[in-house]
Amino acid sequence: MASGRRPEHQAPPELFYSEDEARKYTSNSRMIEIQQQMSERAVELLALPEDTPCYILDLGCGSGLSGEALTMQDHVWVGLDISSHMLDVAVEREVEGDIFLADMGQGMFFRPGTFDGVISISALQWLCNADKKTHSPPKRLYKFFSTLYSAMRRGSRAVFQFYPENSSQVELITTQAMKAGFTGGMVVDFPNSTKAKKMFLCLFAGGQANQQLPKGLGTEGKGAQTQVAYSNARDMGKRRKDRKSVKKSRDWILEKKERRRRQGRDVRPDSKFTGRRRSGKF
Ligand SMILES: C[S@@+](CC[C@H](N)C(=O)[O-])C[C@H]1O[C@@H](n2cnc3c(N)ncnc32)[C@H](O)[C@@H]1O
Repeated sequence: MASGRRPEHQAPPELFYSEDEARKYTSNSRMIEIQQQMSERAVELLALPEDTPCYILDLGCGSGLSGEALTMQDHVWVGLDISSHMLDVAVEREVEGDIFLADMGQGMFFRPGTFDGVISISALQWLCNADKKTHSPPKRLYKFFSTLYSAMRRGSRAVFQFYPENSSQVELITTQAMKAGFTGGMVVDFPNSTKAKKMFLCLFAGGQANQQLPKGLGTEGKGAQTQVAYSNARDMGKRRKDRKSVKKSRDWILEKKERRRRQGRDVRPDSKFTGRRRSGKF
């Protein structure tokens, strides 16, 4: 991820990907190259049958850069995105996929078993943020993964390249995915390189119990860990951690202030007194 403030901290995705940003994004040749490389790798990780066109869903398809990797391999695809401006650019670029305006966090709306595979490039980290008062990231992630699971053909895969902010986000995402029924885990390409390192969440929707997690690239002979597999055993300890902060606690207040800042409201700076009980007040 490029340095500087992360896009998810600046505004909700439907506002961040404005008309200007959507055009800038799709005319930056370095960006196009990176998105294409990551999309091709995601399609490879789907392990689709060779020489058979498949029906694929692209989540957070944006202006269609990721979908192009699917078109190049003769797959038929459907994309959805929350930014109308990104989709406008996709229409202008005459992408081959059918595209929809939708928020992944509200769940999928497809018939059971529709897709032979799912890719998502640089979008999943957005679901870890609460952009509205009513947003609960664990709940949105669970709704997303459980409805996605149902929309996929049994035995198919979903591959998400994403930019987690920290290990708690990886845990939050994988916990909700496993609760929804998926198995699989993280595949890390080039784990020893700050620039080239890429993280892929590779999920299996049922099917053979012994599906093997693919190996990450760029680690031959270096002994770095490139895979972390998860099972869908439920863990009460983890579930307790996913719960919201206790109302009126310091964490609860800090989360609320951060949400308001992202909404562009005037919020007092945090200090050591934030959330402290004032004498005489209960
Ligand atoms: C970095 S762009 C990547 C676009 C495209 N996948 C590519 O590779 O060029 C991330 C996309 O995720 C979309 N996105 C973020 N949150 C979303 C959500 N909750 N539902 C649907 N799309 C979302 C954004 O609107 C944006 O178009």
